Amino acid sequence: MNTVIAFKDVKKAYGDKVVLEHFNLSVEQGEFVTIIGSSGCGKTTILKMINGLIKPTGGSILLHGQNIEEKDMIQLRRNIGYAIQGSVLFPHMTVEQNISYVPNLLNKRDKQRTRNAVSKWMKIVGLDEELKERYPSELSGGQQQRVGIARSLAASPDLLLMDEPFGAVDEITRGQLQVELKQIYEKTGITVLFVTHDISEALKLGTKVLVMDHGVIQQYAPPDVLLHAPATEFVRRLVEKERRVCRLPEEKLLDCAYSGASSAIE
Ligand SMILES: Nc1ncnc2c1ncn2[C@@H]1O[C@H](COP(=O)(O)OP(=O)(O)OP(=O)(O)O)[C@@H](O)[C@H]1O
Ligand SMILES: [Mg+2]
Repeated sequence: MNTVIAFKDVKKAYGDKVVLEHFNLSVEQGEFVTIIGSSGCGKTTILKMINGLIKPTGGSILLHGQNIEEKDMIQLRRNIGYAIQGSVLFPHMTVEQNISYVPNLLNKRDKQRTRNAVSKWMKIVGLDEELKERYPSELSGGQQQRVGIARSLAASPDLLLMDEPFGAVDEITRGQLQVELKQIYEKTGITVLFVTHDISEALKLGTKVLVMDHGVIQQYAPPDVLLHAPATEFVRRLVEKERRVCRLPEEKLLDCAYSGASSAIE
């Protein structure tokens, strides 16, 4: 197996406050890992440490076997797509400029290729082409999120980090974006780490689900294992809601989870 990311005994503290300790995690190539856990348990911290936005207090993080501390940060981030909740678009740039920000860096001399790539990604995330010249302040929240997702994908990253990317969109849009993302994932075979508060979304999208509570891994397993063999009381309670919404016998539970019965973590 080809390990993309490995956390080795990682510790992260902000001042005196220890958020993660003895944190070990391996993500294999082509996995779609969904991360769910109580608020403040360290999910965003995990993603930010992968692309070097924050540094671990102890231990090491390996990307394709190499300690990220030894990597050039600009090079590191070029191969990682990062989409976060809320607007992180450049306010003074148009939609087109926002999406092409990274591809522009990569192919400065080939403007037409960049333009084509922008059109392609706008279409994939369901943004009308006529929005190209707009500024972020002239878009709805859902449209801004789609631009952010298009930008994170436009550089053709081999690793995609998404921090509650569908948090601010309505249920219908969210459903469409889930389908689009799943298709992109299936077509490209990229590795995805996706933080969500919604257990239904975590079970539906993930090939593996990482359940965290207070910086401690409760379970890291495929969705069907979570549903049928929850490792801890925390996981049992988390998936219990899914089971209750479904009210189905054991063998039907998985189908039900994939069809998207909704329940959010509190
Ligand atoms: N820069 C910082 N300085 C101090 N404490 C921080 C900082 N960033 C995060 N924290 C604290 O670290 C803990 C973990 O934060 P993190 O953002 O990783 O949580 P999270 O799991 O993403 O939460 P949420 O689900 O609310 O987004 C929280 O208690 C938070 O208050
Ligand atoms: Mg967070």
